[in-house]
Amino acid sequence: MDYQQTIHWSVDNVGEKTFQAAVAEAGALLREGKLVAFPTETVYGLGADARSDAAVASVFQAKGRPSDNPLIVHIADKQDAALAAAAITETAEKLMDAFWPGALTIILPHNGTLSTKVTAGLSTVGIRLPDHPAARAVIRASGCPIAAPSANRSGRPSPTRAMHVAEDLDGRIAGILDGGPTGVGLESTVIDCTVEPPLILRPGGVTSAEIEAVIGTVDVDPALSEEEQPRSPGMKYRHYAPEAPLTLLDGTTAFMHEQIRASRERGERVGVILTKDLAGESGADREYVLPAGDTETVARELYHALRTFKETEVDQIFMQVIAGEDLGFAVMNRLVKAAGGRVLTENRTF
Ligand code: TXA
Ligand code: MG
Repeated sequence: MDYQQTIHWSVDNVGEKTFQAAVAEAGALLREGKLVAFPTETVYGLGADARSDAAVASVFQAKGRPSDNPLIVHIADKQDAALAAAAITETAEKLMDAFWPGALTIILPHNGTLSTKVTAGLSTVGIRLPDHPAARAVIRASGCPIAAPSANRSGRPSPTRAMHVAEDLDGRIAGILDGGPTGVGLESTVIDCTVEPPLILRPGGVTSAEIEAVIGTVDVDPALSEEEQPRSPGMKYRHYAPEAPLTLLDGTTAFMHEQIRASRERGERVGVILTKDLAGESGADREYVLPAGDTETVARELYHALRTFKETEVDQIFMQVIAGEDLGFAVMNRLVKAAGGRVLTENRTF
């Protein structure tokens, strides 16, 4: 892949001249078939013209992404769903009204106008209207439906800051719009509306309870909690891997301290992700301190925390599991993948 000079724009100040100029320039690059990364409320996305085979092919190349993993199409206005979907069902319409703009990707039959590389040859397409002014402004400026996977190299934690995108993709893409840290920190919920009841393929920013309050019962892909082949093509791949192995700990604080001690005794340099109340006394070589322990904060900080630990500094990372309800279900889904399934459970005798 040829090296290209990546342009960095700051788009913190919505509406200002610099914002408008950056958005216009980025939109023009997208229209020319170039790749531009932009912030959304979930994670940074790597945008390309969803109608152009060449542009979409370069997304897969820049990310090192397997070609059987379809991309989500991003739009700036609800009515633009028709640029990708063959028809909008009543259920999909309700979901759009309730959660768009927002962290919900809706799968519908596609209308045949997109590059077949976007949909990886499937008959369906995932569509999302992001809740971020820079994302929507740049999509609008491009004038095309924008295919955008998370803007990381395949297998790495998704980017929640522009510096994460630069780490992975500088020199491989045309530009990065820097809108500061993203709000949600985890990717959108993916829901398949081509089946009845609708099926959650990936848990994310919108919880199944929130969805059920709007459209009634939904199913959750059993592969998300059991050892089954997932229905969503992308869910089978290793994801979110930090540079050093991550092990999740299911037990007390004493159990965590014990594991850290044992790991150091094996000669490993240990990193730990923990909350403020436990900071300074873990015995680890390096701590990433979460400013608070609530699920929203863990979700927002998780990928940044995972990226903080460099292989030159630590050999092992530990983190305690969190409660797996609502947004916590999505956090645990990402954590278990990031850990490659390694969870140590404390032997408790009560
Ligand atoms: O929050 C997000 O969704 C972010 C931001 C940038 O919008 N995007 C994102 O894209 O996470 P990506 O490509 O990293 O993940 C897309 C997921 C993959 O697991 C993919 O397999 C699934 O959505 N997907 C896309 N189209 C699909 C389809 N037609 N059927 C089933 N799964 C699909
Ligand atoms: Mg991704």
